[in-house]
Amino acid sequence: MTRKRETWKSHWGMIMAMIGTAIGLGNIWRFPYLCGKYGGATFLIPYMILLFGVALFAMMCEWVLGRHTKRDPLGAFDAIKFPFGRDIGAWGIVGPFFLYSYYIVITSWVLFFVFASLEGLYFGKDTGAYFASFLGSKWIFVVHFIAVTITSGILAMGVQKGIERACKIMIPTLFVLLIIVAIRSVTLPGAAEGIEFYMRPRWSGLLSVETWIAALGQVFFTLSLGMGAMLIYGSYLKDEWGIPMNAISVTLGNTSASILAGFAIFPAAFALGFGDVIGSAESIGLTFFVLPKVFTVMPGGHLFGGLFFILLAFGAISSAISIQEPAIAWLKDEVGWTRKESAMFTGIILWLMGLPFVFNGFVKGGLSQKLALLSKMDIIIGQLAIPIFGILAIIAVGYFMGNRGLDEMNKNARVKLSHTWVKFWIRAVVPIFVGLLFVLSLIRILQDNRIIPTIIPAAKDIAFTPIGITPTTIFMIVFISLIFWGGFAYTTIRVLTIEKDKRRRTSSGLHHSR
Ligand code: PHE
Repeated sequence: MTRKRETWKSHWGMIMAMIGTAIGLGNIWRFPYLCGKYGGATFLIPYMILLFGVALFAMMCEWVLGRHTKRDPLGAFDAIKFPFGRDIGAWGIVGPFFLYSYYIVITSWVLFFVFASLEGLYFGKDTGAYFASFLGSKWIFVVHFIAVTITSGILAMGVQKGIERACKIMIPTLFVLLIIVAIRSVTLPGAAEGIEFYMRPRWSGLLSVETWIAALGQVFFTLSLGMGAMLIYGSYLKDEWGIPMNAISVTLGNTSASILAGFAIFPAAFALGFGDVIGSAESIGLTFFVLPKVFTVMPGGHLFGGLFFILLAFGAISSAISIQEPAIAWLKDEVGWTRKESAMFTGIILWLMGLPFVFNGFVKGGLSQKLALLSKMDIIIGQLAIPIFGILAIIAVGYFMGNRGLDEMNKNARVKLSHTWVKFWIRAVVPIFVGLLFVLSLIRILQDNRIIPTIIPAAKDIAFTPIGITPTTIFMIVFISLIFWGGFAYTTIRVLTIEKDKRRRTSSGLHHSR
């Protein structure tokens, strides 16, 4: 296909922009919350299996669809002749509205906490109660409005180059700050229990369908899949960048941040007296009362907390932008509106759609009541809709693009994936396995006679009893550090040197034949 399209400028900038959409609340809010709810390390194991076995492939497939067709999701599914392609692709435009509607509300909490940290508003207070009172205050309206205005404003200006430039600075800084908070958290007296909770698998929990379904939703959510975002970002990929290695680098980079967030939150949660909140309905707000508490026990906590939340706000906004972008791209490309009109129109709709979650904060009761609507929406979108549509990209490439898709995947890649193997994996293994998970969870829902929004409670059989840091815990720490941090460093350096190598060869006139 010879459609022309803007592309990311530099390779490093592309990796940072991809990690920029991927890294956000999914890593620092959703991951610790679910990981806590489903038993710490017990959740990590299905999470890792599904991350590499399913989500990584889904990401490569979304990039293939984007880069091959150079279209928005609707156009892309249509272009490859997927049955009902336009209707299914339309989800990539409409779905993100539902995700954005509550995602931006959480983003607005982050914005508020920038201000609250700098002003020291929660210092010396019960941070849980403080968070609950914030949810019922007029501030929530103000920050929600500001958050929607920020993303729509940035998108009105046309972002791609802007996102790339900003991500190059902000994402590495966010990593550094996360490392500092994690170090503070693991060195708090009483942190060991949290480390153990987070790193020692309780094997019995692995048999629970709930844990697997939650992990499935999270691996898609965290990599920005099933919403058209990665597909659109993939359409800006240059042809000379091999997809597999870059996808691995983005997957590892994104997950490194989640793992770090876990080290920032769990040890501190146990050490600072929030141990029993973990796994409860309130735990959906974990990040917003555990981290502030950590800042109160850090030297220079005001400033540090402020800086931390600014960067988290950046992560959240760079993700929210990628959630709003598909609709704008569609209005612009297919309906013919200007970028500004599209940004304003989507902004208004999205603001209205977020209001129910804002109003929910005013109901009487504790955090779980104030966050009830949001947590239901998060289950419907994050656990149901995102994985279903994420899988469609895999099916689209596996069954409807066939070799064309796999050639696109391997185009200019130094490490090429075997066609037979990938085909077998994405045509058979992934759909069967994921289908099975869905069927099992459906049976579970029918058994428990629950209606959809309350499905999938935390598994009951994963109660945590501390037994001290065991060799298994230590093994997991080493294993996870090597895979994620080591792997991210290795693959990123590798893709970047391959790139430099290629450039040197071309500039010295030596054409490398494959
Ligand atoms: N991956 C983003 C995060 O972790 C959320 C997201 C999901 C963004 C889907 C775009 C599409 O915060």
